[in-house]
Amino acid sequence: MYRSVSPAADASALVETSLELDAVDGVGAGSLVIDRDRFVCKRSDSLLSAIEKCLDNGTGDCFIVDDEDIVFGRVTLEEIAGAILSGTAPADLMTWPMTPVSSPETTRECVSPLLDATGRLIAVRVDRGSEFVQVSRPHLGHREFRAVLATFLSSWISSRGPHIAEFEEAFAAFVGTRHGVAVTSGTAALHLALLALGIGPGDEVIVPDLTFAATINAVCYCGATPVIVDVDPVRWTMSPETIEPALSVRTKAIIPVHLYGRPAAMTPITQLAQRRGLLIVEDCAEAHGARHDGRNVGQFGDVACFSFYGNKPVTTGEGGMCVTNSDTLATKVRRLRSHGMLPDRWYWHEAIGFNYRMTNLQAAIGREQVATIGETLKRNDRLQQKYRKRLGEFPCVRFPPPLGADDEPITWLVCVQVPAPSREAIIATARERDIELRPFFTPLTSMPIYREFWRDCPQSAGLAATGLNLPTSDAVDDKVIEKIAGVFRDVLT
Ligand SMILES: Cc1ncc(COP(=O)(O)O)c(C=O)c1O
Repeated sequence: MYRSVSPAADASALVETSLELDAVDGVGAGSLVIDRDRFVCKRSDSLLSAIEKCLDNGTGDCFIVDDEDIVFGRVTLEEIAGAILSGTAPADLMTWPMTPVSSPETTRECVSPLLDATGRLIAVRVDRGSEFVQVSRPHLGHREFRAVLATFLSSWISSRGPHIAEFEEAFAAFVGTRHGVAVTSGTAALHLALLALGIGPGDEVIVPDLTFAATINAVCYCGATPVIVDVDPVRWTMSPETIEPALSVRTKAIIPVHLYGRPAAMTPITQLAQRRGLLIVEDCAEAHGARHDGRNVGQFGDVACFSFYGNKPVTTGEGGMCVTNSDTLATKVRRLRSHGMLPDRWYWHEAIGFNYRMTNLQAAIGREQVATIGETLKRNDRLQQKYRKRLGEFPCVRFPPPLGADDEPITWLVCVQVPAPSREAIIATARERDIELRPFFTPLTSMPIYREFWRDCPQSAGLAATGLNLPTSDAVDDKVIEKIAGVFRDVLT
């Protein structure tokens, strides 16, 4: 943990200390940052470069130093945003109001400088444990910032402009499908996928009990009948064993959901679908990059749907995409997302379509997010490992059961299961300590709005009562994990 460093400390002492602390390199770091360059701006630097530095180090803060490394003050994204809005933002940091910086011993700031006796910056302490930590927070760095700014300046801010096709191509290539059609949300993607497959009144569509409500709602939008099935206790989603008993002559499609980054058993599910003549819409909203049997999820279904909501590994704020290898389905989804209009004949409509178009501004962000998804997923895996190591001391806290050798889940949000009677107390205690924990989704069969579709789903009920999502973002470091361990200790022991 952080060892207080005297003002006259020299860099070698800090290096030693930082090694003890598991030196900072992105997420999961100790509280002392030796790589201070990520937090330093010169007075001659432009405001734009200060913004980018604040974004890239993930804290929203930087220190302004002179040529001798003497610290003049702090600059934060919040202050810069205020200055931009009031029209007082300077071009560079020369005239930025200088504020005295406090030492880590006297401040509860998340980012604080370590100075030597002459006021030179020798290191930066980052302590995420002193701020409110949300369960999820997008990482938006300089690439996204530049992309949004440039798109804004181009004035192509609605759903025309080059970035939509660029994002569609990049994301479809990431999944490994021929087509990607960007839409306004994962929910819109599910709706259009079902419509493009001709699902409508009289058809039954199988959905899992444990999922976000968008999965079942999309079926209802089409006038079809959802048939809810239980989940497999290991995979946490539907399986051939839970699907088969629910099939009827009216079953037209199934929507396997790759819940919390865990791939459904798509090879046997696809075989079952082929045997029974069923269509598959994969709900990949939470599983960008997860794999099963050597293939990415999203490659198995007739159409697969992704969400780019702010908490997803690739985000555009709100947004979604249908991916498919079928030229016909891609064309149908494209038309339906844009009022059913023919692309080559103005104001000629051949379907009752929708306005589900993504904007060029959002797609510009998405294109940059796809470029760094590998880093995002690695960061989340590292976090999961750290949580496992630290929370392993609590025998009643369970991490997700391992899947088979053919499965490569991703860490979307770190998941644990805790004793059901303690879960609310854990969430409430964490909230008092400025940490947001989230319960798993509510089973569809426990909500009156879906009463007519209820079935017995004991596995889903058990998981939903015990599941908890832990914060998974740049804002989680060892201090935060330690605080969460403290919550578990105080409630569970
Ligand atoms: C499993 C699942 N399906 C569908 C959706 C809907 O996506 P969106 O929020 O982008 O509409 C979500 C959203 O988080 C989800 O978790």
